[in-house]
Amino acid sequence: MDEQTVQNFWQQHACGDAQVGGLWDRFQGDYEQFFSDYDRFRYGNERHLLACLDALNVAGKRVLEIGLGEGSESEQLIRRGARWTGVDLTEASVDRVQTRLALRNLAYDDLRQGSVLDLPFADNSFDLVFSHGVLHHVPEIKRAQNEICRVIRPDGELVIMLYARWSLNYLVSIALLRRGVLLAAALLTRAGMTSADRAGGMLAGHLSNAQKQGLFNYLKLSNFVHSNTDGPGNPYALVYDRPRVERDFSSFRVRRMYKRYMHAPPLPVHRLPGERLLGWHLWVHLSPVPAGGATPTASRPRPGRPFTGRGS
Ligand SMILES: C[S@@+](CC[C@H](N)C(=O)[O-])C[C@H]1O[C@@H](n2cnc3c(N)ncnc32)[C@H](O)[C@@H]1O
Repeated sequence: MDEQTVQNFWQQHACGDAQVGGLWDRFQGDYEQFFSDYDRFRYGNERHLLACLDALNVAGKRVLEIGLGEGSESEQLIRRGARWTGVDLTEASVDRVQTRLALRNLAYDDLRQGSVLDLPFADNSFDLVFSHGVLHHVPEIKRAQNEICRVIRPDGELVIMLYARWSLNYLVSIALLRRGVLLAAALLTRAGMTSADRAGGMLAGHLSNAQKQGLFNYLKLSNFVHSNTDGPGNPYALVYDRPRVERDFSSFRVRRMYKRYMHAPPLPVHRLPGERLLGWHLWVHLSPVPAGGATPTASRPRPGRPFTGRGS
């Protein structure tokens, strides 16, 4: 899986756009109305989000946000007093966020199109790096975490949201329900009792994927998960638990993890309790690992770079 494929997907499927009908399809390019409706939908649905942002205490901090989507959290971080910089892989997202922040007259430090694999910022630039719903879509995650570690201050914090492995969505909806429905639909299609066209919507996308990749290959859970988090066209997604976080973010130490957001489509579970146990969004707070047991504020070697002993 290469970054170009991931970039093409997000460029063509601006994150969250379809959830409110589309900036161009439904809102005919009325950005203000689109952003208002999108945020109302988002914060009505993901009801934990604003409180989680409050708890980050970003006022006065130099914050880098990686992977911006429609820029809802970008706006919220700036409104909470962050000295904000943003980066996204796609022109589509950067354009939308730039337009949003201009419309709302919000000042910020910097906004760039770029990749987490090659961040266009100097070493030790940020107090806090925030990335919501992005890093589980990055195939070269080791390289990404090296880059984040390079730009974050030694006493800084990384806060990320990753999809949770121990969630109702992964264990029940994706692993059992969706695979079962697809298997049944594929067998009915083979028997000539239905077709991808008649199935329509997401199911048609999955039937077409299964045809291209081979049904049983596509149904392997490690494969199926990619196309079951952000639509059947999504090329890459992982689910995380603590061991995988520790393995993939080895330049950091996990300080805190918690789950939020009951979400397991097509099951109507949004209003059910249990998000702390089986929620889909795994929030993780991490600190850079100091060199050789030094204090977090001391200088440390940068991954992949020679250690010069230079102070930060
Ligand atoms: C699922 S959306 C999440 C957006 C937003 N943070 C949210 O929660 O709605 C993923 C975003 O990350 C961006 N992205 C994906 N891979 C990236 C990378 N390697 N570097 C920077 N941004 C990336 C995509 O362009 C897209 O805007």
